[in-house]
Amino acid sequence: MSARRFSLRVDGIPVEAAPGQSILQACDAAGVYIPRLCDHPDLPPAGHCRVCICLVDGRRACACTTPAAAGQVVLNDTPELQDERRAMVELLFIEGNHYCHFCERSGDCELQALGYRLGMSVPRWPYLWPRRELDGSHPDVFIDHDRCILCSRCIRASRLEDGKSLFGFEGRGIRMRLKVEAEGHLDATALAAADQAVRVCPVGCIGVKRTAFRVPRGMRRYDQTPIGADIEARREPLKD
Ligand code: SF4
Ligand code: SF4
Ligand code: FES
Repeated sequence: MSARRFSLRVDGIPVEAAPGQSILQACDAAGVYIPRLCDHPDLPPAGHCRVCICLVDGRRACACTTPAAAGQVVLNDTPELQDERRAMVELLFIEGNHYCHFCERSGDCELQALGYRLGMSVPRWPYLWPRRELDGSHPDVFIDHDRCILCSRCIRASRLEDGKSLFGFEGRGIRMRLKVEAEGHLDATALAAADQAVRVCPVGCIGVKRTAFRVPRGMRRYDQTPIGADIEARREPLKD
């Protein structure tokens, strides 16, 4: 271990970290998967979804926004925390309109994959069936607000990577919505299908037209391995 690196323990596993890393980043590098939805490796953390909630030295904290520190004791994979995460995922399902069977993002969707990984079957609350808009005005990109989980990845990517600042939020609480920063609809913006804002959406809310269902069932991102398996594959076996 270099002089500047330090170590913490996550579910009893020693995790080496570098200064400036969040707990989530340190765990990713060490092959310990912490569930997340709003975090993206190319974007600064936002702390919106709270799916990455852990117990850090006995206190609840988001792993994506909490800096790793020497000697920290983190609990991540406990039945209570996993149930809390499952409840958050269930809330996202009931607050939107998710028809996975008919969604072109099925099998490649982080929300769906997380539901499977956390053992979600039926949400514990009734569906709200909100009325949401589908914006198909742009020649190459659509926004289906039914599927938006308000993670803000597109907002961050549009501002920081595309240099366009095309998106924001409006409203509060259950009425909060993604808004297009333009007079009118998506076709009034400078959005391009190749923009990072389109690429980073974890669900099927922002999508590129004429690309649906190209990957056959069985070959989609989460058909073979659960979400987080790529991170866990980095883990070195514990030495005796
Ligand atoms: S966005 Fe994901 S969770 Fe929502 S309908 Fe599509 S596949 Fe299902
Ligand atoms: S459109 Fe996608 S990336 Fe943007 S806030 Fe909604 S779910 Fe997140
Ligand atoms: S991943 Fe940490 S709050 Fe969303």
